[in-house]
Amino acid sequence: MREADGNGDPLGVDPEAMRAYGYRTVDMLVQRLCDRSIPPLRRASPQEMRDRLSGPPPAAGQDFDAILARLDRDVLPFMSRGDHPGFFAFIPFCGTWPGALGDFIASACNIYAGSWMESAGPTQLELEVLAWFKQWIGYPAGAGGVLVDGGSAANLTALACARETLVGDMSADLVGYVSDQAHSSLARSARVLGFRPEQLRVLPTDARFRIDPRILAAAMDADVRAGRRPLFVAATAGTTNTGAVDPLTPLSQLCRERGVWLHVDAAYGGFAVLTERGRELLRGLDAADSVTLDPHKWLYQPYECGALLVRDDSVLRTAFQMTPDYLQDCCAGDETNLSDRGLQLTRSARALKVWVSLQYFGVDAFTAAVDRSLDLAERVRERVDAADALELTAPASLGVICFRRRFPGAANEDEVDAHNAALVVALEQSGLGLVSSTIVNGRYTLRVCVLNHTTGADDVDRLMDFLQSAEPTTLAAPAAAGTVALAGACQRDHPIPATPLRRRSNGGGG
Ligand SMILES: Cc1ncc(COP(=O)(O)O)c(C=O)c1O
Repeated sequence: MREADGNGDPLGVDPEAMRAYGYRTVDMLVQRLCDRSIPPLRRASPQEMRDRLSGPPPAAGQDFDAILARLDRDVLPFMSRGDHPGFFAFIPFCGTWPGALGDFIASACNIYAGSWMESAGPTQLELEVLAWFKQWIGYPAGAGGVLVDGGSAANLTALACARETLVGDMSADLVGYVSDQAHSSLARSARVLGFRPEQLRVLPTDARFRIDPRILAAAMDADVRAGRRPLFVAATAGTTNTGAVDPLTPLSQLCRERGVWLHVDAAYGGFAVLTERGRELLRGLDAADSVTLDPHKWLYQPYECGALLVRDDSVLRTAFQMTPDYLQDCCAGDETNLSDRGLQLTRSARALKVWVSLQYFGVDAFTAAVDRSLDLAERVRERVDAADALELTAPASLGVICFRRRFPGAANEDEVDAHNAALVVALEQSGLGLVSSTIVNGRYTLRVCVLNHTTGADDVDRLMDFLQSAEPTTLAAPAAAGTVALAGACQRDHPIPATPLRRRSNGGGG
């Protein structure tokens, strides 16, 4: 039971108990995190979860060990395990222990990182971390940024900066441009900011799934002729679907000529700039007006941690700064109030985990981890190229490899789709690994994303052996034609559909 602190505080905990609970929590976590037998995903039905967890909160406190045991038994087993070396699905997420401890420190100290007055240390730490990111992508000294909860929030913040900086009020003649491979958070951000579906042009991509600057220029010309005002282009450096990188330099030239804001969503791919080949691939990123980076993807930070960087530091304040009377005490001289740079007033100290993990491992270790992922992704591509049974469905890029198994005996393409979907399910059921699927050029495709620092060559080889040679007879029953896209793990990160965006009757996102 909870120990009173002797001060009449109904929610106080005795210092010795604080230590003991902390040690026991760490013991439980280390046991779990080091248990190699836990599969990359354990699903459960809503009924099973209700059976385990439904009920009112207890009126009286419970024993802490019993609480931990319940979490360990009824909650933590039923989730994906992003740090599993065989986790190749969606955008893998693999933190580090020092990063998690950084988050724990931020949480235990309950840091309010909104104003300098209340948080000079953590604010400076965030400015330092942002300065590293700025330098890594080649931004100039006058650039700025803010940490947010993820890539979606960063994209929303970027589009708000674009509108407030270039025009101010929302207007029906403003137009934004994305590709049919852009992440759905961009369409959602545009919607939240008041862009109607017809104010967001979804451009078809080229054979390598990239924006064609000529198509973009023609779309802008047509809009200008029709009396509309092109406002922003949201390009992607590492599309969620295939890892494609839009041609950043021509796009920035085009945008600069026309006074249009260029945002680059580099949420998952951006930290490849730590490596030489990544820098080469992402050349031109520094010319964007704003860049989304997600440290909780390829910088191995625990959820949640996103970042928006802007080429001109002042645009964040232009878009977000407000000083109500009740915050007048927080404003002094050249102090930075991070709450003036985004939507959140109350904000946690996300920089702590980034800082702690980078201090502990050093930048070189992160560079080596990203480099290793790129090597392993290359290994996957080579395995696909070398196997008659497999074919690439998109050029491999930035850790993402899209391919499918041929199944020569299949009656038609729908059956090939269904067998590939069954392969995804069978892999999950084997406990060996997890891949997700997507649609490329209208066909079901296997999608392997190699990002985890825990993944090694053996893990890749085991995965490819399975996908290449698992016998159809050992596969789960093929899904009915037309439903294969739903087989396997549910898709989380949908690209924007090529058709014009319309609000669905159920209010679902684009
Ligand atoms: C390219 C890209 N942009 C944005 C996002 C959204 O990021 P978050 O899930 O952190 O909101 C993702 C997520 O995978 C992504 O891949």
